[in-house]
Amino acid sequence: MLLEIKNLTKRFGGLTAVSKVDLSVRQGEVRGIIGPNGSGKSTLFNLISGVYRPDPGASIAFDGKDITNLEAHEIARRGVARTFQLLRIFSGMSVIENLLIGHHGHIRYGAASAVVGSRRAWAEERRVRQEMMELLSFIGLADYADMPAGEMSGGQQRLLALGRAMAARPKLLLLDEPAAGLSPINVDVLLDTVLALKNRFGLTVIIIEHILKVVMETCEAVSVLDHGEKIAEGSPAQIRDDRLVIEAYLGKEMKDEEVRAFLRSA
Ligand SMILES: Nc1ncnc2c1ncn2[C@@H]1O[C@H](COP(=O)(O)OP(=O)(O)OP(=O)(O)O)[C@@H](O)[C@H]1O
Ligand SMILES: [Mg+2]
Repeated sequence: MLLEIKNLTKRFGGLTAVSKVDLSVRQGEVRGIIGPNGSGKSTLFNLISGVYRPDPGASIAFDGKDITNLEAHEIARRGVARTFQLLRIFSGMSVIENLLIGHHGHIRYGAASAVVGSRRAWAEERRVRQEMMELLSFIGLADYADMPAGEMSGGQQRLLALGRAMAARPKLLLLDEPAAGLSPINVDVLLDTVLALKNRFGLTVIIIEHILKVVMETCEAVSVLDHGEKIAEGSPAQIRDDRLVIEAYLGKEMKDEEVRAFLRSA
């Protein structure tokens, strides 16, 4: 297993956002995480990526090593990248600069390095820029490299967020509702891009998604959270074919109460 989580719990005051969750994701898998609003999906990502510390008793192993209490930057360095539910692109910076930040984890290019940078630093800079341009081409944004990110369309910004997470060359990519707010055609473009990146780079991907169609079509296995607990897990077909998973639910966004009802009855 690339990722092996055991007994993961996170309380915020009296609220248990994630409760005793076990989760194993194999290398190369695309895993879906579904569940109603507030069921703990984003918190799960925040725990895996080190934004939050889990409550005592949990263990998270990544690539065979314990990462349970590591700092976020250390977890990122070991190959875990993520996107955020609310886009965090730097809208005043160009598209390529956004990728370079994703690659470096910080800004270390531009005027200052032009003055003090050694020839070697410049060569390295050029190599990285070239690599980021290839990544931009791969996600279909090469023509926009120098455009301020804030001027791009919603769909392009979502692709950019994906590209920026990929810029660090992760082994595991955590996508928090990557298709939120996109039109159906842009959802398809985004998903095709995710799958292309996965195949090209041998990635493992975990996708949180409200749009069930996305999960059903893209993921090999789906884990279902409700009130912080993992209440179901299986192939999309198993989740979908659970006796009361009504066909009418598939292919459209579900209201929370609908999700709860369908999960309860599954
Ligand atoms: N930093 C925090 N402090 C206090 N409560 C929090 C914090 N982060 C999350 N929560 C609470 O934990 C619960 C789970 O939140 P989380 O964001 O993980 O849900 P989610 O499944 O991602 O929901 P959504 O589908 O709306 O994105 C919610 O009740 C939320 O209010
Ligand atoms: Mg969330």
